[in-house]
Amino acid sequence: MKHSIAIDGPAGAGKSTVAKELARVLGINYLNTGAMYRALALYALERGISPSDESAVSSILNEAVISVKYEGEEQRTLLNGRDCTEQLRSEAVSMATSDISRHRAVRDRMAGLQREIALRQPLVLEGRDIGTNVLYDAPHKFFVTASAEERARRRQKQLDKLGVSAEFQTILADIIARDRQDSGREYMPLKRADDAVLIDTTDLSIEEAVEAIKKRIEGA
Ligand code: DC
Repeated sequence: MKHSIAIDGPAGAGKSTVAKELARVLGINYLNTGAMYRALALYALERGISPSDESAVSSILNEAVISVKYEGEEQRTLLNGRDCTEQLRSEAVSMATSDISRHRAVRDRMAGLQREIALRQPLVLEGRDIGTNVLYDAPHKFFVTASAEERARRRQKQLDKLGVSAEFQTILADIIARDRQDSGREYMPLKRADDAVLIDTTDLSIEEAVEAIKKRIEGA
């Protein structure tokens, strides 16, 4: 854990891209913790369990064995041994994940798994509560964010590339709703740790953001 780097921030701030690139530059692995919550949400959806139903979700925690493996630099997420990486990015899974990640039992289970993975190797961990909870004693913590409008613009570009057209205002409203849900939940909300360095990517390229983080790590 000594060497781990915690990167938190809201959806769409470029956190994943920055964390992945930072890990590549540093020559260490990257852990996308959102993918682990997403795999659990996928399992709940497949089993017909409502992600909001805390007791039903708690009862499947022992059945859904979530792990990660690396193919080169690429994280693959496994659900009961099955590689489910490609199924994790759908809108249905995104919304279900925001719901399922509110439950205390879920968060405690995932945080435990994430700590175990971080004990085995130096890692860049990316999520919402890494600096405040999972690795609250990490030596390097960053909070990567961008304005909601800029995040919506980036999301629209991504969707355009996928051939999906969506109204800017709808995308913006979704982002604001997800921010509210992630920051407003009672247990371990999305929050900047007091000792996390703020990286605002609204006017920064990925390379500039990575460089800013790298400088802080090397200078620390
Ligand atoms: O980073 P992401 O978009 O893949 O995250 C999906 C959802 O999971 C998001 O709504 C917040 C939640 N999440 C969380 O609560 N804690 C984490 N460490 C990672 C993700």
